[in-house]
Formats: sequence, structure tokens, C-alpha cells
Amino acid sequence: MRLLTAGESHGPLVLAVIDGVPAGLAINAAGIDIDLRRRQLGYGRGARQRIERDAVRITGGVRQGRTTGAPIALEIANRDAANWERVMSASPVVEPPEPVTRLRPGHADLAGALKFGHTDVRDVIERASARETAARVAAGGIAKALLAVVGTVVESETKSIGDVTSVPTFDRDAVEGSEVRCSDAAKSAAMVAAIAAARDAGDTLGGVVALRAVGVTPGLGTFAEWDRRLDGRIAQALMSIQSAKGMQFGDAFAAARERGSAVHDPITVRGGEFRRTRNRAGGLEGGVTNGEDLLVEIAFKPISTLMKPLPSADLRTGAPSPAHVERSDVCVIPAAGVVAEAMLAFVLADALCEKFGSDNVDDMCAAVERYRGRLRPIDLRT
Ligand SMILES: Cc1cc2nc3c(=O)[nH]c(=O)nc-3n(C[C@H](O)[C@H](O)[C@H](O)COP(=O)(O)O)c2cc1C
Repeated sequence: MRLLTAGESHGPLVLAVIDGVPAGLAINAAGIDIDLRRRQLGYGRGARQRIERDAVRITGGVRQGRTTGAPIALEIANRDAANWERVMSASPVVEPPEPVTRLRPGHADLAGALKFGHTDVRDVIERASARETAARVAAGGIAKALLAVVGTVVESETKSIGDVTSVPTFDRDAVEGSEVRCSDAAKSAAMVAAIAAARDAGDTLGGVVALRAVGVTPGLGTFAEWDRRLDGRIAQALMSIQSAKGMQFGDAFAAARERGSAVHDPITVRGGEFRRTRNRAGGLEGGVTNGEDLLVEIAFKPISTLMKPLPSADLRTGAPSPAHVERSDVCVIPAAGVVAEAMLAFVLADALCEKFGSDNVDDMCAAVERYRGRLRPIDLRT
């Protein structure tokens, strides 16, 4: 499966094109909209989320509620575009907008302007903006629909915001009922207070998202080729999320300080299946899924647009100047979890298609069934 997104933050829309989805998969736009809405929620989001009411418009690859096997096109309108028509006009306007030239440390402003030779940082801001993640979440909805057919579910929870850390339980009701998507009510309140304090100080916060996939088909990925190992592919997809700066499978950073006997997950047979007595590896060994839950954590840096801006410089003159300030989120960890779900779902769905065929969803399911039959330990097969 391939995914391409396009569209600017304040242009008319963002869109996703997804190629390689099997024909015959049932698609429900309302289901995708639920995830789009989840991406917009969370304490610490900026005023933009009060303007937008994200909803997907399916404009290709789906007919009568089912995929046709053609590339799928998904569009999400930017309601805020109505306020930006002059700035975002594709044709030159009589009164050109004032360029943005004061660079924000931590954002893509300087690197993007240097790379493309832009003299107005607006050309960078518009695409570097994480408004793009609405398109990723919509595409993730298609991937989740495919995974659901084989019983795989991807979920997320906020593990930490600032210095407040909780133990993720993935209790869905508690997570979705929390303003910061954290299942522990006391920690949730402490996270909200930390975000409020950062906002009052004109500052921002980052944090850690925990991701879990359950019902993962064993054997996805491969163990040698650098570009096909699933751990590498998942890392690439998750690290491509705006402001993601680190990640681990299982509890890799703690495990790196311990002995092998304490770290590796003993193998046993339970219910006719190979199982583990613990899951510190996070569901992957040798770059291949081993059938245990896939467990990943992702660290996101604090948002870089600060209401009390850092010292910076002007792009045109090089003169010292405080960084550009514009409407912005204070903390996006709850939304980042929803985006991370989409990216993990996309990689898993892609790996599933690769292993079991991507032309027709019933053919794919039949291949999965046959494969599962041969996964049982040899003396339990008859
Ligand atoms: C859901 C989400 C929302 C974001 N909202 C903002 C925002 O309002 N303001 C901002 O400065 N950065 C925001 N970011 C982060 C920037 O998009 C990101 O820092 C920027 O693209 C530079 O990329 P980098 O941080 O990966 O280096 C957001 C990120 C995510 C995942």
C-alpha cells in the first residue's frame, strides 16, 4: 500500500491518496470521521480546532460502500480556509500578503526556507503544519478497516505529558473519557494542570504516547533486509509524525541496562499456540511480528510555536528578532496518539497485503486462514 498526502494547512483541503487496498473491503465514512474527531480533541489544542469540523469526503476508489481496488482518494475540507483566501490564493493577488520572516526555533521554518529558497516562511509553515495529519488519520481509517477483517485492533494512550507519567492500561472507555487520553483519572487531572500552567507561562509541553496492536498476525515483516524488517518500517512511519523525536519497542531503553535472562520472553504453548510468558520485546523479534501484542512508545517534543517567543533572527536581514508567533496548540499528545494509531495501522495493513495478497479482501482472508492453520505446534496440528 502506498500513501501520498497533499494540501496546505489553510488551503481549501487536505487529501490522501492510498493505492494498493484490496477490492471488496467495506468502508464506512462515519467510522473514519470518528477518528478525525478524536484527532481534534484533547486539552491543550488551539483555537483552530473550534473552527474545524473534520469530515471525510471519499472521492475515489470506493463505490456502494466497498473498495474497488482502485486508488482511494480522501478529502478533508479546511473550514478555516475561508479566512485565508488572500494569503493562500493559488493565483497572484493585487495586494500580496505580508511575508513571514521571523524564524521559529524548533519548527521547520529555517530548514525549509534554506532548502527551497523561500523568502516567505508561510510557504514552509503551510505544509510543515500538522494539519496534514488529518489526511494521515483518514488514510489510517482505511487501514484499520482492513486490519479489522483479520481481527487486528490498534489503540493508543497518553503515557506522559511534561513530567506527569502514568501507566497505560488501554482501558478504552477511560482513555476516550479523559481530556488528555490517559486512563488514570488522577494522572489525567495532573496532566491537564501541567498543560494549563505551561499555557499561562506562554510555554508548551511534549510527552509520550503508548501504542498497542492486539490480534496481530505473526510473521509480518522479514528478518534480514534492512528496508523490509517490520521494526524498521514501523519506526520510519512513526518517526515521520510531526514532532516525534524518539521511540522504543517494548521497554527497549530499560532492557538495554539489564541482562538477557531478565529481558527475553520465555516461549511456551498455550491453547494450541506458541505464546510468551511476558512481552518485553513488544511483539517483534528479528524484524517479524511474533503474535504477541505490538507495543511501541513514541516521544514527542514540546510544540515549538511559543507565545513568549525565543530569541531568533529575521530570514531576510539576519537581524536579531523574536520568533514569529501565531495561533498554536500548547500540547498535542492526545491528538498525536490518534495520528500514531493511523501510521501503525497503515504499516501493519501494508505488511498484511504484502504477505497475503492485495487484490481481493476475501482472497486475502482465505490466505490468512490457511496460514493460521499451519502456525500450530507440529504435535497439535492433527
Ligand atoms: C497533531 C499535531 C499538532 C501540532 N500542532 C502544532 C501547532 O499548533 N503549532 C506548532 O508549532 N507545532 C505543531 N505541531 C508540531 C509541528 O508540526 C512540528 O514541530 C513541525 O512540523 C516540525 O517538525 P519536527 O518537530 O518533527 O522537527 C503539531 C504536531 C502534531 C503531531
